[in-house]
Amino acid sequence: MTLIIGGGIAAYKSLDLIRRLKDRGIHVRCVMTRAAQQFVTPLTAGALADERCYTDLFDAQSEFDAGHIRLARDTDLIVVAPATADLMAKMAQGHADDLATAILLATNRPVLMAPAMNPLMWANAATKRNVAQLARDGIRFIGPNSGEMAEANEAGIGRMSEPLEIAAAADALLRPPQARPLTGKKILITAGPTHEPIDPVRYIANRSSGKQGFAIAASAAEAGADVTLISGPVDLDDPPGVQMIHVESARDMLAQVEAALPADIAIFAAAVADWRVAHAGDQKIKKTATGIPPLALIENPDILATVAKRRHDRPKLVIGFAAETENLIVNATLKLARKGCDWIVANDVSPATGVMGGDRNTVHLITRMGKQTHVDSWPVMTKEEVADALVAKIVSTIGQQPA
Ligand code: CTP
Repeated sequence: MTLIIGGGIAAYKSLDLIRRLKDRGIHVRCVMTRAAQQFVTPLTAGALADERCYTDLFDAQSEFDAGHIRLARDTDLIVVAPATADLMAKMAQGHADDLATAILLATNRPVLMAPAMNPLMWANAATKRNVAQLARDGIRFIGPNSGEMAEANEAGIGRMSEPLEIAAAADALLRPPQARPLTGKKILITAGPTHEPIDPVRYIANRSSGKQGFAIAASAAEAGADVTLISGPVDLDDPPGVQMIHVESARDMLAQVEAALPADIAIFAAAVADWRVAHAGDQKIKKTATGIPPLALIENPDILATVAKRRHDRPKLVIGFAAETENLIVNATLKLARKGCDWIVANDVSPATGVMGGDRNTVHLITRMGKQTHVDSWPVMTKEEVADALVAKIVSTIGQQPA
C-alpha cells in the first residue's frame, strides 16, 4: 500500500505506523509532502519501509515512466496520515500540484484518511465541508480522536488516531470481507479467575473479570479460528462461534485444557489461583468453640507451564500473561523463561491502573526468538483492541503458514 505523510506534528507517529503495517505483513511505500519533510525525513521513512520515500512530482528517477500514475495505481490502498486540513482541502477541490495530491487525483484505489489538526481547524466550516465532500466521494476516515494537542493547554477533537488503530483499519480495508486468516487453526484459550473451594459454600477467588480472554476468543473466532475457551466463573456472555467450557477450580481448568489438546496455539489469559485449600471441607465449616479454623494452602498446578513443557503435542505458539504490580518487564521476561512460553503479554495490574475488572489495558508484548527477547509496548487500548492486535500479530506470525 501507499502511505502519504502530510505535514503535521503527527507525522512522527506515521513512522510508527509504518512498523505497525509491516507487523501485519503489509508492504508500505511512502510518499511525503514538502511540509511533512519539516517534521520527519524521507530517509527515515524510506529506511523503515525498506523502499525509497517519494517526494517530488517532477522526479527524474521515477517520472520518466509517469511515476505518479504508477504510485497511484500500483497499490491496493492509499492511507493518508496525517491528513492535514490543507491536504484534505486540496483533495476535495481536485488539486494536483504536488506528488501527494497528484496521486490522490489519479488513483482508483480505496483511500483512508487519518486527519490530524488543531481542534479549531477541525471544527471550522471549511474543513467540515471538505470532509463531507470527501466522504461523498467515497474516501474513508479514521479519527480524529479527542485528547491533548501538541500546543500547550489545548485539547479537543483533532488528534490523529493511534498507529495501531490506523493499521487495523488499513488491514480491514485490504482484507476481503470474508477473509478468515486463522481458518483451520485450533486455538485454546483460558480466561477468568478460578474458584478454589474452602467448603461447599465458600471459596478463594481473585478480581479477574475474564474480559481480556473473552475478547481474544471472540477476535480469534472472527478471524476463522476453531476456538475452545475454558473459563473460570465470570459474569460474561459466551462469545459467539466459540466452543465454551465452564470450570471452577485450577485443577478442573487443567483437566479441560489437557482434554482439549492438541491445539496450534494456546493462550493463557486466566488468572489461575496459585494456591488451593489443602483440605477443603465436604460440609460447611461451622463456627466452633475451638476458634478460627486454620486454612492450610497447597500450590495449584501451573497450567501454562504444564502445557508449554509438553513434548509431543506442545502447541506451536504458547502465549502467557504476566500480571505484575512492580518491575513489569523484568518480571514478565523472567516469567516467560520460567514457564517456557513463546510470548508473554505483560500488564501492570497495580490497583491504580484499574486493569483488573476494568475495560482498558496497557500491555507490553514480549516475544522470544531463540535466546533473544523483544519488547513491544502498546498504547492504552480497550481489551477488545488488545485482543485484535494480539490476533493480528498471531496472523502475521503463524497465520499464513499452512495448517
Ligand atoms: N498460570 C497458569 N496456571 C497457574 C498460574 C498461572 O496457567 N497455576 C498462567 C496464567 O494464565 C498466566 C501466566 O501463567 O498466563 C502467569 O500468571 P501470573 O499470575 O502472572 O503468574 P504466576 O505464575 O502466578 O506468578 P506470580 O504470582 O509469582 O507472579
